[in-house]
Amino acid sequence: KKRIFSGVQPSGDLTLGNYIGAIKNWAKLQDDYECIYCIVDLHSITVRQTPADLRRRTLEVLMQYMAAGIDPEKSVIFIQSHVSAHAELAWVLGCNAQMGELSRMTQFKEKSKKHADNINAGLFTYPVLMAADILVYQADLVPVGHDQLQHVEIARDIANRFNHYYSDTFTIPEAYIPKVGQRIMSLQSPENKMSKSDPNPNGCIRLLDDKDTIIRKFKRAVTDSGSEIKSAADKPGVTNLLSIYSAVTNKTVEEAEKDFEGKGYGEFKLAVGEAVADTLAPVQAEFCRLQGDKEYVESVYKKGAEAASYIASKTLRKVYKKVGFIAK
Ligand code: TYM
Repeated sequence: KKRIFSGVQPSGDLTLGNYIGAIKNWAKLQDDYECIYCIVDLHSITVRQTPADLRRRTLEVLMQYMAAGIDPEKSVIFIQSHVSAHAELAWVLGCNAQMGELSRMTQFKEKSKKHADNINAGLFTYPVLMAADILVYQADLVPVGHDQLQHVEIARDIANRFNHYYSDTFTIPEAYIPKVGQRIMSLQSPENKMSKSDPNPNGCIRLLDDKDTIIRKFKRAVTDSGSEIKSAADKPGVTNLLSIYSAVTNKTVEEAEKDFEGKGYGEFKLAVGEAVADTLAPVQAEFCRLQGDKEYVESVYKKGAEAASYIASKTLRKVYKKVGFIAK
C-alpha cells in the first residue's frame, strides 16, 4: 500500500477551508492507503501561541480529525512533538536546504509581513520541518489544499538533493490536491483565502459554528454583479460558493450550476449555507461526544505516537548512517 502523510497546525479553530481542502479527503483515503495524520504543534509555535490555548486546541484538532471520520483503527493519528525524529531529521535536512530557496516561500513572505515583530528563525525554516514530517515516513502522497503545494515541492527538492548526494534514501512525495475545493476563499473577500486568522469573522466558517451562525454568514456572503449563478473568473464570490456547495454535496460544479439555474442569489446562498450546516452537523455531534471521552482520546494519540515513532526512527537511523554519524 502507498503511504500518506498530512497535518494541520493547531493554531486556531479549524475552518471550512481546512475541512474541504484537507481533512474531508483524508477520511476517504483510509481504505486504500496507509495513512498517517499529524497535529503539527511544533509548526504552530512559529507564531506566538498562548500555552493554555495551544494545549486545548491540539486536543480539539485531534478530536475534529476523529469526528470528521479519521478512524484510529485504520490510520495513525498523533501529535508531532511526541515523535522526536521530526525535529532531528529537520536538522539534517536544514543543512541540505538553501537560504535562497527558503526565502522564496510565499508563506514565509506573507507571515513575515503579518508578524513583522516576530520574524523568527523557525518561521524561516518552517518548510524544512515540514519536509522532515513528510520524508521521515517515506510518504508517497501528501493530501493538502493548494496553498501547501509550494511546501511539498521544496520537500521534493530537498529529498532529491539528499538522494543524489548520499544515495537513494527518501521516497519522493507528491502533493495530492482535490479537484473541487482546493482553495476555499473568504466569504467576505473572495480574492483572499479563507483562513483561521481572518480578521473579519463573517468571512470564515468554523467547523464548530452552529447552524444559525453558518446560515447567517452565508446570507451575508459577498456575491458578484449580474444575477447568473455560474463559475467564472469575473465572479469570484459565486464561484467560491459553488465550489463549497459542490464539495459538501459531492457534486460536480456543473451539477451544482444546474441545481441553481434560474434562481436568485438569496435562495442560492441559503441553500449553500444549509448544505454546509447539514454536512457539519454529524461532525459536531461526534466532536461533542469525544469531548466527554478524554481517556479514549488520550489512548488514541499515545498509540499513534508509538506507531509513528517506530516508522520514523527507522528512517532517521538510515539517514544518520548515510551522513556519516557513528551508530550508538
Ligand atoms: P494549515 O494548518 O494552514 O492547513 C491545513 C490544511 O488545510 C488546507 N487549507 C485549505 N484548503 C483549501 N482552502 C482553504 N482556504 C484552506 N486553508 C487551509 C491546507 O492546504 C492544509 O492542507 N504547513 C501546513 C501544515 C503541515 C503539513 C505538514 C501538511 C505541516 N507539516 C506535512 C502536510 C504535510 C499548514 O500550515 O497547514
